[in-house]
Amino acid sequence: MLSGLLKRKTKEPENAPKTLPQHVAIIMDGNGRWARARGLPRTAGHKKGADSLRTILNACRDAGVRNLTIYAFSAENWRRPADEISDLMQLLRHYLQKEVTTLHENGMRLRFIGDSSQLQPDIRKQMHDAIALTATNNAFHFTIALNYGSRQEILRAMRKLAKEVQEGRLTPEAITEERISLALDTAGLPEPDLLIRTGGEQRLSNFLLWQAAYTEFYFTPVLWPDFGTEEFMRALHEFARRNRRFGTTGEE
Ligand code: FPP
Repeated sequence: MLSGLLKRKTKEPENAPKTLPQHVAIIMDGNGRWARARGLPRTAGHKKGADSLRTILNACRDAGVRNLTIYAFSAENWRRPADEISDLMQLLRHYLQKEVTTLHENGMRLRFIGDSSQLQPDIRKQMHDAIALTATNNAFHFTIALNYGSRQEILRAMRKLAKEVQEGRLTPEAITEERISLALDTAGLPEPDLLIRTGGEQRLSNFLLWQAAYTEFYFTPVLWPDFGTEEFMRALHEFARRNRRFGTTGEE
């Protein structure tokens, strides 16, 4: 898939700004509306969304962003019609089967966040194999949130810590922000600097609530299947213009 990188379009994408986010998180919204506007089934929107994902993964790598985390399936997405869920799972199977070797060849490490216990065994096996294959890669960290919900993730982490306290391996005083971060699914990843949400909604929808404490948000009405390199560069430039103060006055 990254071979597409070599084929430059007629219009050169805008250069990436100097100040780059280390970690970009994306809520890929608007696949269904994209499909409906064309009289197509929602699945067609998700398929086109998978193409956008390829494009943005390449764009990240080209620009020098080293971590990308995407919200592929939320813990709340089980409420969708059974047909759509099964189509999304099929798309995921297909995506993992087709892309993992290429990700690996490009030095990318693939990880998953969320509760995988409710996913089908063959998908869990694919996930497990992909994690193992790419575990020592370090050029790029690609994280897929699957059956992910931030509150559920925090709850799992709290239970883990409570158990350690109960067993006498941890004292309440030793529970620090760092210790909590390490108990989350995202342990080891930097916090996202920039979170992009496509599709016009302006909310977090239970994505990375703890991790996004100081994240810059970028909302765009562009539907995910229409979100390409140029749109991504626009988001990077907007990020570069923001003055991140982390609670300080911003003065030296
Ligand atoms: C939101 O659009 C999108 C999703 C719930 C699924 C995202 C999945 C992909 C982009 C597929 C590719 C990813 C992988 C890892 C295979 P929506 O359906 O909520 O759109 P709507 O708001 O217009 O209805």
